[in-house]
Amino acid sequence: MSAIDYELLDFGDGRKLERFGQYVLDRPSPAADGASKRSPQRWPEAAARYERTAGEGGRWHSRRPLSDNWPLDCGAFQLELKLTDAGQLGAFPEQAANWQWIAEQVKLAGRPKVLNLFAYTGASTLAAAAAGAEVVHVDSAANVVAWARRNAAASGLAEAPIRWIAEDALRFVERELRRGNQYDAVLLDPPAYGHGPKGQVWKLELDLPRLLPLCFELCGVGSKFVLLSCHTAELASAESLRDYAENLLGPLPGWRATAAPMNIVASSGARVNCGAAVCWVRR
Ligand SMILES: C[S@@+](CC[C@H](N)C(=O)[O-])C[C@H]1O[C@@H](n2cnc3c(N)ncnc32)[C@H](O)[C@@H]1O
Repeated sequence: MSAIDYELLDFGDGRKLERFGQYVLDRPSPAADGASKRSPQRWPEAAARYERTAGEGGRWHSRRPLSDNWPLDCGAFQLELKLTDAGQLGAFPEQAANWQWIAEQVKLAGRPKVLNLFAYTGASTLAAAAAGAEVVHVDSAANVVAWARRNAAASGLAEAPIRWIAEDALRFVERELRRGNQYDAVLLDPPAYGHGPKGQVWKLELDLPRLLPLCFELCGVGSKFVLLSCHTAELASAESLRDYAENLLGPLPGWRATAAPMNIVASSGARVNCGAAVCWVRR
């Protein structure tokens, strides 16, 4: 596992209590529905608590003064965290095992050209770049791409061979195929819903069946690996995500698929499922 400075301290009653670097935070978590808190005495440690409001959004309620942003040490790279209106912080710790896997695959491959779609604040981009990859980083939100670039600078990777692109993932892949560009590896972590920069709507159930086969078309003959991760409740188990992907893709001669849950293990030893990942490597 990456040495990420993060702990899941407790979860239950639809919420999780987590330490991200210097701050303990209390956030909603559908995966904690139906579980009971094991350490209720720890919850007042939270410096801030996020509450959903009636509409789509929510609000942070701070109990103690917090910095506008603070660093999260992820071992090979560093992420700047902050409290966002959506309740996110700039890091998905359930991806830590994937960062480790990406770094290992990049080292095995030499200096691969990696495409990272839905790349957010750049954790997978930086895991790949720190291990020696050339990366094309694509996310539709220009402010999030700027955030990822700050993370690269904070990680000593400002001069690494990373192209930063604010674009719709599907449009970008279609254009790359028309241009005849190929990649050694593709990473994609699509949300259930999203928007391209020109308001194009991304809906996982409609658009992933179009995008995933194109990702394999982008892989050249000598390409090395593909990693699909999903946080959507319907595809949260390793089996359901692998079955879904295999139905979409049909037989993929020359590739071997492995699926795993993305779990976070709490201090108590309990596991919270936060989605699943399927990786394909060349046989
Ligand atoms: C679940 S986050 C990805 C998390 C990231 N892979 C990580 O582990 O840090 C989803 C990201 O997809 C982006 N996004 C949403 N719709 C998009 C689209 N149509 N094209 C490209 N990016 C999109 C969002 O801006 C957001 O950063």
